Amino acid sequence: MEVILRPSAEAAVRLVARIVARELRARPNLVLGLATGRTMEGVYRELIRLHREEGLDFSRCRTFNLDEYAGVPPTDERSFRHWMQEHFFRHVNLRPENVHLPDGMAPDLEAECRRYEEAIRSAGGVDLQLLGIGVAGHIGFNEPLSSLQSRTRVKALTPMTIRQNAAWCGGEERVPRRAVTMGVGTILEARWCVLLALGSEKAEVVARAVEGPITSMVPASALQLHPRCTVILDEEAGGRLALKEYCRWLFENEPEWDAFRREDRP
Ligand code: GLP
Repeated sequence: MEVILRPSAEAAVRLVARIVARELRARPNLVLGLATGRTMEGVYRELIRLHREEGLDFSRCRTFNLDEYAGVPPTDERSFRHWMQEHFFRHVNLRPENVHLPDGMAPDLEAECRRYEEAIRSAGGVDLQLLGIGVAGHIGFNEPLSSLQSRTRVKALTPMTIRQNAAWCGGEERVPRRAVTMGVGTILEARWCVLLALGSEKAEVVARAVEGPITSMVPASALQLHPRCTVILDEEAGGRLALKEYCRWLFENEPEWDAFRREDRP
């Protein structure tokens, strides 16, 4: 795992957006794995800006979202499809046929999970997967106790996640109890995983995921097994890491980050 600590949320967000932009310019038909959540809002805002001001072209890009609530129609404001539409899709030139989310309204959700896996496979797999992290340690909706080899499936949400997502849905009682999510195993097959976490409320779970033991109690810890996983944090989210100094040093010194560093100091 490579853990990058940036001085502010804005710098962390900008770095993630610039990674996406660089990959997309290098490979216009990139298969991009997308995540929802407050953490991602700034990333989508920056990608929209790059599209408008610097001509970042999504016309051949294919996207696969991590998850979707079960039983919530796409027109419902709680649905991830609706959120993605508002925060990203409608502002860039992605083609509708290249945009994929699990269908939480499918009459046979198990068949839908198999279809989703197949769609990812036939696109050639995910090149770059964006991830947030839930306070319960989840990636996608892989709640604690998720098998670290799990595939796309229906998952029941933990009380902690329901509380976390209450504001999103307009109250705890309006948070759906189940979701369709890519599995941990599905996520681990992406060629590059980039996890973004911001703010002190994520500090403890980030430290457990990054420096703690690999355990299904913290599904994000499975990313330690991934051959190419970059975790990008602001100072607050990285506040509980033992290796803080090292993580700051990496961005300042590793040649891999040269270009990004230069852009950061115009
Ligand atoms: C939801 C999503 C996750 C996301 C998490 C964190 O549960 N299913 O993919 O990482 O929220 O959300 P936020 O970024 O709002 O903290």
